[in-house]
Amino acid sequence: MDEFERYFKAAMKSDNVLLDKITHYIIKRKGKQMRPMFVFLSSKICGDINPATYTAASLIELLHTATLVHDDVVDTANLRRGFFSVNALWKNKIAVLVGDYLLSRGLLLSVDNNQFELLRIVSQAVKEMSEGELLQQEKSRLLNITEDVYYSIIRQKTASLIAACCKSGAHAGGGDSVQQEKMYRFGLNIGLAFQIKDDLLDYGFGEEIGKPVGIDIQERKMTLPLIYTLQHCNASDRKNLVNIVKRHNTDKARVNELVQKVLEVGGIDYARDKMNQFRDEALDILNTFPESDTRSSLHELVQYTINRKK
Ligand code: IPE
Ligand code: IPE
Ligand code: MG
Ligand code: MG
Repeated sequence: MDEFERYFKAAMKSDNVLLDKITHYIIKRKGKQMRPMFVFLSSKICGDINPATYTAASLIELLHTATLVHDDVVDTANLRRGFFSVNALWKNKIAVLVGDYLLSRGLLLSVDNNQFELLRIVSQAVKEMSEGELLQQEKSRLLNITEDVYYSIIRQKTASLIAACCKSGAHAGGGDSVQQEKMYRFGLNIGLAFQIKDDLLDYGFGEEIGKPVGIDIQERKMTLPLIYTLQHCNASDRKNLVNIVKRHNTDKARVNELVQKVLEVGGIDYARDKMNQFRDEALDILNTFPESDTRSSLHELVQYTINRKK
């Protein structure tokens, strides 16, 4: 990971003073770097870690960073990784441009290294992520989201990139097409579990998570705990909950009322069960690989995905 960080930092460097200042700010507040870890371990479980693996890991972390910068504009979030978000400090205009810059630097990384299969895998994920974020916006206007639509959203906006991590890692490591597809499915399941966990963290029952809590309801994003609750409560509760999301989504007391109802009806427990099911699905796929230290590390990383506190 030290070697990766050097590579990652170099890939962001710019002569533009403002860009350099902002990318410096971003690098100083690094995230958990789970995606590069998935790239490296997927590479190793299918062969070896080599320069192509570093390119894949850096490209994906750059792209992930770009989507976070844009996502905080879309979600009007002013906190990221425990500090002010880019849009909070430099405003939306700059954040949009910086996100584009990071995305283009990422894509260039694969072109400059002649890794065109990597470019294909990742571009597919970028496309799906945009579609997922847009579908989410559409649903937050209409407030009529079903569990199936929720899974489509999170598959596109989050799981597609984690699947791309595992597939591109497998490809870089020398895995054949069967192994690459297997790793892709492994990543999709982890990605679904990962976003359910993120949505649970937004309920704010834990410690500091380094980003705003309660922002999903504020942005009228209906996530699994609430979707389940709406389908399993009586008509008058349902009406009240929809009304809170629609008209009182910034009123702390009313939102707290919603949270209590979600707890009472079992929405949190239900989401946690679903998350564990996706984790188990991922582990079943992983266990088709022979036992090794790498496989154990992937096991641990999967557990971390759902046990993490931020
Ligand atoms: C946040 O991803 C965005 C989601 C897909 C939920 P991470 O939780 O991996 O963000 P960092 O990189 O560790 O900050
Ligand atoms: C994931 O959804 C966003 C991306 C895929 C970029 P969220 O909007 O829930 O992510 P956070 O909570 O802001 O990190
Ligand atoms: Mg967000
Ligand atoms: Mg979130």
